[in-house]
Amino acid sequence: MNDQISNLLTESRSFPPPKGFAAGAILGDAVAVAALRARAAADPAAFWGEVAREDLRWQKPFTQTLDWSDAPHAKWFADGTLNLSDNCLDRHCETWRRHKAALIWEGEPIGDQGPEIRTFTYQQLRDAVMRFANGLKLLGVQCGDRVAIYLPMIPEAAIAMLACARIGAVHSVVFGGFSADALGDRCRDTEAKLVITADASYRRGSLIRLKDVVDVALAEGVCPSVQGVVVVRRAHCPIAWQPGRDHAWHDLMAAAQPHCPPTELPAEHPLFILYTSGSTGKPKGLLHTTGGYAAHVTRTMRWVFDLRDDDLYWCTADVGWVTGHSYIVYGPLSNGATVLMYEGAPQSPEKDRFWDIIERHKVTIFYTAPTALRTFMAWGEAPILKHDLSSLRLLGTVGEPINPAAWVWYHEVIGQGRCPIVDTWWQTETGGILIAPLPGVETLVPGTATQPFPGIVADIVDNVGKSQPTDAGGLLVIRHPWPGMARTIWGDRDRYADAYFSKIPGIYFTGDGARRDAKGHFWIMGRVDDVLNVSGHRIGTSEVESALVAHALVAEAAVVGRPDAVTGQAIVAFVTTLGGTDNSPALAQALRAHVAKEIGGLARPAEIRFAAALPKTRSGKIMRRLLRELASGNGVSGDVTTLEDLSVLETLRNSED
Ligand code: WT7
Repeated sequence: MNDQISNLLTESRSFPPPKGFAAGAILGDAVAVAALRARAAADPAAFWGEVAREDLRWQKPFTQTLDWSDAPHAKWFADGTLNLSDNCLDRHCETWRRHKAALIWEGEPIGDQGPEIRTFTYQQLRDAVMRFANGLKLLGVQCGDRVAIYLPMIPEAAIAMLACARIGAVHSVVFGGFSADALGDRCRDTEAKLVITADASYRRGSLIRLKDVVDVALAEGVCPSVQGVVVVRRAHCPIAWQPGRDHAWHDLMAAAQPHCPPTELPAEHPLFILYTSGSTGKPKGLLHTTGGYAAHVTRTMRWVFDLRDDDLYWCTADVGWVTGHSYIVYGPLSNGATVLMYEGAPQSPEKDRFWDIIERHKVTIFYTAPTALRTFMAWGEAPILKHDLSSLRLLGTVGEPINPAAWVWYHEVIGQGRCPIVDTWWQTETGGILIAPLPGVETLVPGTATQPFPGIVADIVDNVGKSQPTDAGGLLVIRHPWPGMARTIWGDRDRYADAYFSKIPGIYFTGDGARRDAKGHFWIMGRVDDVLNVSGHRIGTSEVESALVAHALVAEAAVVGRPDAVTGQAIVAFVTTLGGTDNSPALAQALRAHVAKEIGGLARPAEIRFAAALPKTRSGKIMRRLLRELASGNGVSGDVTTLEDLSVLETLRNSED
């Protein structure tokens, strides 16, 4: 377990819902919520069945709720049919919401006239999605085909996702920070027929040239499934163009017919594949399907964020992560909400950009990551005090444990004591939020995500699956299937069962450690496997190790995390080089760059330490605990008597680059 737990235990104040907030909340009556929780706990499948009926428009109503006969591959609402783009767009266009803003986008550059802002009403968003859906068909994309989306934070990202959903194509969004190698891997694994990208995007005042990366990823024959590339002209910078393969977004839109009815799809039709790191091997492509996912994200969105028609909701995540899928695109739009989307970085052009956006647009709900909050704390209060943040009424966090100091700062400085904070725990695998407060009724304590959402059965167990008593640490598991859960790993059913349902046979293991307090509230302690959390991004140590050993001068590598005050964890790599190599700072730099090239900048080690050998047990296993202690600068403790070579330790301790 990581070291953040000690940090979590330092704040004992609690924060009941502000009076005004509770009075207006969707769920503001504690007695009613307790009854609802009890009812959902008694029959989770029936609860989710009600949710799916109430919150979604079905073309053919379902009669079954959960089918667990093929466990651990769940089916939810399997005999019903629907379309998620219909639920996110058309049903709102049949009401007064057709003229409501669905999406308000702001670009990063600020010109003479201010920033570029594009607003799409529900009607306009639906029109764009229908046209692009027809464009996809023109390029030969059919129901069930996979489409890779490698786009920046521009409206076309949401349009492309919804257009895929409309015709039953399966999107696989790849975060724009991933390298050509990583993009190519994902195109090969999904056998994507098409890649949708942009010439470039603006970030911190510079251009991120995505199309160049796509060209490398698709170089001659390495992704044989890919037949076409659609390119959004965002920055109008010069790019290479491959006639026949490359298509301009605008030309495609102009050529496409305007009307495209939503395809009627079975509830279990695949919606998207999203890759995430595990403790071993290559990233896993988690498959999410339509009906259950839609029900889960729609209801959690409304209840956890107390979402109402007059809200302006802003989530600062990127659509390349599951947070962007569930709580920028599908959850908010399915509820008919107005979503704000921002292209760029928080310090561009100045460190007050986020607060400037909140003030100008009058954002009411703001959802971000603890690592961002710690960055803002380090920047000081001046950029914040320049702005009026009185429109805010609810704040959220996601991605990693929030330390109480950051929580209290968020509450006081951003929320001005007025806004509840929803600390939301979930994962790429879970599809949507599983543990979070219901803000109208929950008394908040900094550092705990509080309780499982109604209909979610979470527990803390020991290594053999026995529930742990109050305050005892253990493994966080989910005992009952839920509708948003991933259905499988794309192309590898057995790996899905093995990765998630084998540690405690038949029960979903999250990979996180946690404890439960006397009130039954969950305190997440971080990963217990070899997965790091750097700035809320999940990185498998094995992936970084594979990237390092792929370098011609590296013999062996072991990667661990060390606590970092801003990013949560930082990557430290212990490396042995091939005989006679000069272990210089220049080589360390080259190795860091090499990892960025292989995976992406987010996986670049903060530190490389060279050693003649890595500490191993007599059976040859790398002693990771020891390396973690070395990396975090702690004195090495515990039993090291099985070390092959104790002198190795001395070199490692002294070998910072
Ligand atoms: C891992 C999942 C869910 C979208 C973003 C990350 C950690 C996530 C919290 C939280 C403590 C959290 C866990 C989890 N995590 N939210 N509120 N408190 N830890 O999705 O990349 O799939 O990562 O992020 O360790 O297992 P992801």
